[in-house]
Amino acid sequence: MPRIDPHSYFDDAQPRARSWSLRLCVDFGRKVIYGEATLVFASAASGVLDLDTKGLTIRRAAAAGGGAAAPFELGPEEPILGRRLRLRLPAETSAVSISYETSPEAVGLQWLAPEQTEGKKHPFLFSQCQAIHARSILPCQDSAVARVSYVAEVTVPEGLTAVMSAGPEGDAPAEAGWRTFRFRMPQPIPSYLFALAVGELEGRDLSHRCRVWAEPATVEKAAEEFSGTEGMIACAESLFGPYDWDRYDMLVLPPSFPYGGMENPRMTFLTPTLLAGDKSLVDVVAHELAHSWTGNLVTNATAEHFWLNEGFTVWAERRILAALKGPEAAALAWGVGQKDLEEALERFRDKPELTLLRTHLAGVDPDDAFSGVPYEKGARFVVALERAAGPAEFDLFVKAYMKRFRFQSITTEQFCDFIEEIFPGLLASVGAASWLNEPGLPDDAPRFVCRRLEELSALAEGWKSGRRPDPAQVLTWRPTELLLYLQRLPRVMSREDCAWLDGNLGLTGRGNHEILVQWLCIAAASGYEPVFERARLLLSTVGRMKYVRPLYGALGKTAPGRKLAREVFAAAAPTYHALTRRVAETVMAGYETQA
Ligand code: BES
Ligand code: ZN
Repeated sequence: MPRIDPHSYFDDAQPRARSWSLRLCVDFGRKVIYGEATLVFASAASGVLDLDTKGLTIRRAAAAGGGAAAPFELGPEEPILGRRLRLRLPAETSAVSISYETSPEAVGLQWLAPEQTEGKKHPFLFSQCQAIHARSILPCQDSAVARVSYVAEVTVPEGLTAVMSAGPEGDAPAEAGWRTFRFRMPQPIPSYLFALAVGELEGRDLSHRCRVWAEPATVEKAAEEFSGTEGMIACAESLFGPYDWDRYDMLVLPPSFPYGGMENPRMTFLTPTLLAGDKSLVDVVAHELAHSWTGNLVTNATAEHFWLNEGFTVWAERRILAALKGPEAAALAWGVGQKDLEEALERFRDKPELTLLRTHLAGVDPDDAFSGVPYEKGARFVVALERAAGPAEFDLFVKAYMKRFRFQSITTEQFCDFIEEIFPGLLASVGAASWLNEPGLPDDAPRFVCRRLEELSALAEGWKSGRRPDPAQVLTWRPTELLLYLQRLPRVMSREDCAWLDGNLGLTGRGNHEILVQWLCIAAASGYEPVFERARLLLSTVGRMKYVRPLYGALGKTAPGRKLAREVFAAAAPTYHALTRRVAETVMAGYETQA
């Protein structure tokens, strides 16, 4: 089976790049990256080599070191895959160099104007390659099964700093007005973990192996918020084995970043909406850190096995949480996740095939298949295995799993074979076939019960019959308790009820974006106009799709809401990340028949 990934032209029967050597220049004026990508082969190669590209202009291809030209041809543009770049490698090619340039519309990049940054003085650039956007930044075998190490020299305007998903190897002035940063990623990674960001950045050390980067105006706050990260790394090591990536640094991006976090190795990318001021959203850091094992060390072979990355990582994140904050905190997090799962199953009511864990995605854009299902259903499947195996046995299994597959990209089937080898009969005993290959959640899925979860659910349940929490009491709740409560309130309320909630619980002024957005969604769906300006501000600045999708959805429920949504979108769309724009457009397309 030469082509094994429905989202890549990578062909297993062809030469495989073992590493990349990149010389790139970041041109903010034209919003392009241009330069040379050299693909180094494991052994001398020749003949046909198919690479993935999207929006790239290819200038030249030749055997590295001034060797013979490699004739090339770009195939037709395919909507999901992009364009196949077919090279003909001269005999005995040990490495091939490709001169190219990206498009200003590259989906893997967002170019920010100075106004979109905190400092307002300098432009900013960041990449987001998962799932299949690396090909819009460089020509490559853009499949998670084709792992590579890389070195890079990145030239940027003087005064800006470049960071990558790699170890920094110093920087030096280039020609007048430019500076070159060098990087090395010695471990083999899937292409979706390639990452670059450029901006006015400052770093603060949090420990001997951990530093947080952000714009100067944000960096102190970020250092304070994430001061517990070294403790998390140590905790994760005790659970999953040694941390294999040398440093764990983080970058806090401008607010248009479309995700909460991205596990770029050695440099996790984070949304600034995590800076709640009270460390209440650091579970996202626990999650991205956990990917250092589940995802970056053992990787899904293709997007069809995405649950192996995310389900395992949600499970791992909650193990870290339980170890650091106790079992009740973890149970509450499972409770929050339960609602996310229900929402995702509801959203895919008409596409049940996207609620399998082992998906079939030929012809489906992985960004369109994205949902809470691989996360929360996947994590519940892992718990089902853990409970059936016994927690202590399962902990040993996890360490053995890491050891067996480290630096490899595997399929669900390989995972199942390994489980069967260690725990014969376990898969059948938990009904694995139904978890993996059937839609929805099995009836016997693990439940997470704790008294607090029951109390909060009951309290929310009583809303309709007039039960109200005591506002003085709510002040003592942990943020997750309030979030859990809000999740379980009716989705639409009267004006009086909205006013009561906001007046007594001060929701519109919250710095915790999970709580804020949960509230704004109730208020927006209820047509409660006092929150409209807050919603407008959020949708004009924050690009995190987890917030943008439901908020546009909630605004769609009333005519004044739809009017606001259309206004905000018209004004803000040019500043949105391409992925955020697409999500907002899709949600608003559902408004169509209404005024
Ligand atoms: N790897 C994901 C983000 C991602 C997934 C980007 C698929 C592109 C395609 C990251 O680890 C993630 O899951 N982020 C979550 C964090 C949450 C589950 C704690 C997010 O962004 O909300
Ligand atoms: Zn994740």
